[in-house]
Amino acid sequence: MEETLLKLVDKSKKEISAASTIATLNSIFLNIFGQSGTLMKITKELKHLSEEEKPKIGALINRYKKELENAIKKKKARIIEQETKVDIDVTIPGIRPPLGHLHLVTQAILQISRIFEKIGFTRVRYPEIDWEWYSFESLNMTKDSPARDDFETFFIEADPHPKFGKMVLSPHTSSGQVREMERVGSPPIRMINIAKCYRPNWDISHTPMFHQFEGLVIDKSINITHLKGTFDYFARVFFGPKRKIRLRPFHFQFTEPSFEVDITCGVCDGKGCKLCKEGWLELGGSGMVHPNVLKAGKIDPNIYTGYAFGWGIERTYMMKEGLKIEDLRLLYSNDTRFLDQF
Ligand code: PHE
Repeated sequence: MEETLLKLVDKSKKEISAASTIATLNSIFLNIFGQSGTLMKITKELKHLSEEEKPKIGALINRYKKELENAIKKKKARIIEQETKVDIDVTIPGIRPPLGHLHLVTQAILQISRIFEKIGFTRVRYPEIDWEWYSFESLNMTKDSPARDDFETFFIEADPHPKFGKMVLSPHTSSGQVREMERVGSPPIRMINIAKCYRPNWDISHTPMFHQFEGLVIDKSINITHLKGTFDYFARVFFGPKRKIRLRPFHFQFTEPSFEVDITCGVCDGKGCKLCKEGWLELGGSGMVHPNVLKAGKIDPNIYTGYAFGWGIERTYMMKEGLKIEDLRLLYSNDTRFLDQF
């Protein structure tokens, strides 16, 4: 019996080492370990052996079982390894993943912040959802002020605050003016507030969400020359040395006097062309901070004066590049064919 076993194991081992596919190995396994497999048959014979021989042969069968099982397992692993082995040529150039970049509005925000930080402005951002008080009342715009119509506004459905009024999606970054006065306490204040603004407009030149950058400077003896000087500096650095700024009288409730700020057109250098018509493009609003706004921020208008300006990031960026984007909504439509160009 011992001899039959030994022969069987020898034969099986040879078969295993000769096998070259998993399928062959599986059938070898069945031939040995299956219901009517060779080893099983021998195991069934055990009962005919003498009491002395039984444990000896039994132990031997167990040993061979393990040996054969292991041999099959090892061989399988080797076949799998060979089948999945691929030649790697480390000298072949890799596949370059496409590289993304910052959105053009983010690029503009970074550039503009840097320009103002260089002359001592502190970059801040204030809530996009704010109270009517910070968006309007604190800026000298009472409830019945018709000027409020210029700042069409999204209102939030929530209980109004007894002092601050309704909640709104901030329609301009000027909402940060009195918040900054409260944060800093007493002047000097040199703020550059860049944030998202919201107004319910949706057409080729308006998106309901857009960005503004708001400057606010408050100190002793601040006057219009400081305002003009700052705009000249910004224009030179952001738009280039050839571009010029002009102030045009205007009206805002929260500044007095107020100005619209224009810049010479970058396409025609101020001569007049299809884009600008008369040589000038409108950047945005500005003016000397109204005494009532200073009072709302608990700053004494008899001691301090200041200037403020609020311009659209999207608009300003397009004026820099002399870009005429047919539809401003492209900026936020996530079409990479458009965005990849910046
Ligand atoms: N907040 C005004 C707007 O959105 C711009 C502005 C800011 C005007 C600061 C004057 C001073 O149109």
